Amino acid sequence: MPTWNTFIEGDNLEVLHGLAVGGERFDLIYIDPPYNTGNDFAYDDDRRGPDGGRAGRHQAWRAMMRPRLEAAREVLDPAGALYVSIDDHEAAHLRLLLDEVFGEGNFLAQIVVNLNAKGRQLGHGFATSHEYLLSYARDARRCRLDASSPDHVDERDFPLTSPEGHRFRHLPLRNTNKKFNPITAPTLHFAIWGDPATGLVSPDPFDGAVEISPVFGDGAPAVWRWSRPRIAARATDLVCRTIKGRRGERVDVFQRDWLHPQEGRRRKKLRTIWLAEEIGSTDTAVAELKDLVGHVFESPKPTGLIRRILGTMPEEARVLDFFAGSGTTGHAVALANLADGGTRRCLSVNVAEPTREGSNAQRAGLSSVADITRARLRAVAETLGGGLDERVWPC
Ligand SMILES: C[S@@+](CC[C@H](N)C(=O)[O-])C[C@H]1O[C@@H](n2cnc3c(N)ncnc32)[C@H](O)[C@@H]1O
Repeated sequence: MPTWNTFIEGDNLEVLHGLAVGGERFDLIYIDPPYNTGNDFAYDDDRRGPDGGRAGRHQAWRAMMRPRLEAAREVLDPAGALYVSIDDHEAAHLRLLLDEVFGEGNFLAQIVVNLNAKGRQLGHGFATSHEYLLSYARDARRCRLDASSPDHVDERDFPLTSPEGHRFRHLPLRNTNKKFNPITAPTLHFAIWGDPATGLVSPDPFDGAVEISPVFGDGAPAVWRWSRPRIAARATDLVCRTIKGRRGERVDVFQRDWLHPQEGRRRKKLRTIWLAEEIGSTDTAVAELKDLVGHVFESPKPTGLIRRILGTMPEEARVLDFFAGSGTTGHAVALANLADGGTRRCLSVNVAEPTREGSNAQRAGLSSVADITRARLRAVAETLGGGLDERVWPC
């Protein structure tokens, strides 16, 4: 079985160039670069420009990021996708930089990630409770990213139960979007037959059936969502019912939409706001790291956030995180593989940046951030399996 996790200690720019030369390709790159906050807890996060001012600061940060994003693009598979975590300090600059490097047409989403449900109570102004995740495709036309999730489906949306015990809901067979009507979609405007007493539906007349044409609530002509052949093939998933509309009683046709369809798992489109209650928070992330290694890193990401990102790409994705920090991405890959039997592999990269004097990390004998990454990924391999391949650049 291939090793799930690999860790390379080294400067990510050199490692990325080496990977590109070696022809390595990744399906998914997730990075959480220093946000340029001016703080310096576990790692250096203060990029002052030559003049020490704000403009110089952004410029210095962009100068650090640009070659790394360009190199990341080189090692991204043509059908791959990149996600970058960022907060308000550099969000605007990063968006423009990514537009330049990946092309505006390959922008997929700017997701609001609510990692601090209560909001930051320190300092002046608003209690900031979110940051961002920017997502770009290497090539939007070929990208394999599926912006939906099987875990996101809410069973409560399926209130009905069949005699066999299967959950479902009724969806109108008629297209309720007024953009689709007999003028814009003439082939989907046709009559079908149904019997409200038995519920039976057919594209052809039968005994006891009434003719039904699609109409909007106001009586204007509408269109069906399914073609005539599809209605014939899946007539048992349709039901004819008498309903009370705005203009009195009428007979209409509904689809039985199953919670667990026969073909594949049901998936729901992901919204662009991800809540802490769904993906975890900075507090839960600190607790996850504490369980494995200790409280040795100030700003890890929750594995739930990375698992949701992983869920948008195939189960055999080759994953890269070249600002690995405490190794959350490698941890999330092992958890995801265990949960769904996937064969994802993850390469984490972090420089041997010294940890702060007197910090918990130093007290725990972890003298660099690379030591923290290694310690967590070793603990992941021990507790969850999947192994760990450790290297130091150049390797
Ligand atoms: C915001 S942290 C990442 C946190 C991580 N997502 C987690 O959940 O723990 C950014 C990391 O990038 C690392 N880093 C900064 N510059 C680097 C470089 N040139 N090469 C490799 N790693 C670097 C820092 O040491 C730090 O650990």
